[in-house]
Amino acid sequence: MAMDHMNIATISLLLLLASTAHIAQSADFDVQSYGAKPGADIAQALTSAWKKACAAGGSSKVVIPEGTYKSGPVTFEGPCKGPIEVQLDGTLQAPADATPHKGGGWLVFLRVEDFTLSGTGTLDGQGTNSYKANHCGPNVNCDLYPTSLRLDFITNGVVTGITSKDAKSFHINLFGCKNMTVEHVTITAPATSHNTDGIHIGRSSGITVADTTIATGDDCVSLGDGSQDVTIQRVKCGPGHGISIGSLGKYKDEQPVSQIKVLDCTITGTTNGVRIKTWPASAGAGTASGIVFKGIIMDNVANPVIIDQGYCPYGQCKAQIPSTIKISDVTIQDINGTSATAKTIQFICSKGVPCEDVKVSNIDLTYKGSEGTAKTVCENVKPTVTGTQNPPLCPEGE
Ligand SMILES: *[C@@H]1O[C@H](CO)[C@@H](O)[C@H](O)[C@H]1NC(C)=O
Ligand SMILES: *[C@@H]1O[C@H](CO)[C@@H](O)[C@H](O)[C@H]1NC(C)=O
Repeated sequence: MAMDHMNIATISLLLLLASTAHIAQSADFDVQSYGAKPGADIAQALTSAWKKACAAGGSSKVVIPEGTYKSGPVTFEGPCKGPIEVQLDGTLQAPADATPHKGGGWLVFLRVEDFTLSGTGTLDGQGTNSYKANHCGPNVNCDLYPTSLRLDFITNGVVTGITSKDAKSFHINLFGCKNMTVEHVTITAPATSHNTDGIHIGRSSGITVADTTIATGDDCVSLGDGSQDVTIQRVKCGPGHGISIGSLGKYKDEQPVSQIKVLDCTITGTTNGVRIKTWPASAGAGTASGIVFKGIIMDNVANPVIIDQGYCPYGQCKAQIPSTIKISDVTIQDINGTSATAKTIQFICSKGVPCEDVKVSNIDLTYKGSEGTAKTVCENVKPTVTGTQNPPLCPEGE
């Protein structure tokens, strides 16, 4: 009897010790303990803290406390032994020089599972010098500047709270990711900056971008080939080029784009609202299907809704050869507000592979400018129309 009690007490104590040990496994790795000092370049401290945290097992966290730090490029490589978080509360400044990089990134997270990037801090790409220099224009072989935050092959991840400003090129790029959420993030760059896309997603699935504000000189959110099951909701865009699927068809062996939802977004003062763009004389036969644009408020947006299968900037393609990218199952619903151009809805579909199953419902877009009355364009498409349509969608005889 006494022996049994003893055993129970011992077991309880062991359980208590085990649970304490478990809590102790969740460790913080403060970069200041690895030599980081405000004002100095902390790339080395970041790398050391990451390596320790990544190898620690259990849940571990790299902390960048308040203060302004500089950092050259850093690759944070997984896989790690357990879930890992980087809490950025300070400001990290990229080098201010404008040296192009071939396909590089400033901060690259690579092959990490159960990843969180959180905090109230800022990634400052210090892109001002590169905006002056960087204008590839028609030059297809021109080197690009580094993306501020590259998330490559991340599975089960969250990016939340942080700000990204003045990236030299894209702000955040997701490639090969699965099950990632980007939320409560703020992205800013000057309206005149080149190629400063807010969030670009490619070859990734199960991605949510939510409750985020993006003001840049290029696309707010852009979705490249292989984007599948992506939801963009409650995002505020502008200035910039709006939310874009594509461009598709520039390269060979592109993967399908499917199940994309853009919901409850507000787009202000951009050069496009919601867009699907594909290249003529496409390099392959890709597809974009299962696309929903719903509940979008447009405020002074040029080209509020546009499918452009003749996308050929700087005459970089044979524009007379129709695009071979098939667009189908597109829903455009509950879109209200003001257009900055007379063309409110434009479907410029491919003569080679017309758009199929395009549904348009409840549109109220007004235009008050010198280009005359608001109008719509329907080329190589027979949309299904329900609910209100202002302006009328491609009425007979126009
Ligand atoms: C997706 O990622 C989140 C955040 O890391 C995680 O909580 C969730 O369990 C993951 N979902 C699946 C289906 O793995
Ligand atoms: C657009 O206006 C209609 C009618 O007033 C309204 O029911 C709908 O919720 C509005 N949608 C948006 C996105 O504002």
